[in-house]
Amino acid sequence: GRVAVLMGGTSSEREVSLDSGRNVLEALRARRVDAFAVDGIPALLDAIRAGKVDRVFNILHGNKGGGEDGVLQGLCEALRVPYTGSDVLGSALSMDKIRTKQVWLSLGLPTPRYVRLAKGDAAPATIRAAAHELGLPVIVKPSCEGSSVGVSRVHDDAGLDAAVELAARYPGELLMEQLVVGDELTVAVLADGEGHRALPSIRIVPKGEWYDYNAKYIAEDTQYLCPGLDGDPEDEIRRIALAAFLAAGCHGWGRVDVMRDRASGRFYLLEVNTAPGMTSHSLVPKAARQVGIEFEELCWRVLESSLG
Ligand code: DAL
Ligand code: MG
Repeated sequence: GRVAVLMGGTSSEREVSLDSGRNVLEALRARRVDAFAVDGIPALLDAIRAGKVDRVFNILHGNKGGGEDGVLQGLCEALRVPYTGSDVLGSALSMDKIRTKQVWLSLGLPTPRYVRLAKGDAAPATIRAAAHELGLPVIVKPSCEGSSVGVSRVHDDAGLDAAVELAARYPGELLMEQLVVGDELTVAVLADGEGHRALPSIRIVPKGEWYDYNAKYIAEDTQYLCPGLDGDPEDEIRRIALAAFLAAGCHGWGRVDVMRDRASGRFYLLEVNTAPGMTSHSLVPKAARQVGIEFEELCWRVLESSLG
């Protein structure tokens, strides 16, 4: 059947998605899949109505016009078109970092302490009180964005208001999170037969202070180590990441971002990405390659795990 590779859209991650999408399209075509590109949800709807779509490969990142927040998934369900990745619930939950953390905490899965900031109650005194409760430094971020868009690390009171103001420019709530000082890691999860498995972790060593948008997509000097850890810690991070993915109701594929506290060695879950990047800088392809799954095969497996 014909596969629409859904990319682009109108979220803040549009450019990243176009880059991911072009790679996926090329890989599927190399596997003789009859695949074509569709930019954004309205164009997908037109193509479905014209009877051109048998399946959707969703590589539309982000929310509000992106394809990661459950809206696209609901559309595909309603129109009975199979699609890759997580369903409505898993997508919508994972797009919302605050509510994902609440689910994890309720199950005893570790995630950094945080304070939820609703837009509007961001008075300077409230913000300072939140930061002092968590203890500086803190991270301030929009609850529903990706690729570190709108995220700041704040080391002192002077930086708080600007960080909150930046995060508030994006839709939805904001959160302030305790900064875990240590390693940035990520674990890809992939469908495997009837279930899912965690691939080897990747440890990210950015040249700058942290793995921001520039370090993710532009800089060529970010280092990636895979597997990111050895022995028991590597087993443990894979176990926690898979549990976090399943707890969020995710399916097919995804990537779980994790911090490891340098002093204690403990892991802290940050979020699940349900349509992870597939750019040449992206991490899921690197982890897959480590276990002998080349990019084309990875795209094929994701396609095979479609829901619906
Ligand atoms: N949100 C970006 C695309 C990622 O997680 O890879
Ligand atoms: Mg993300």
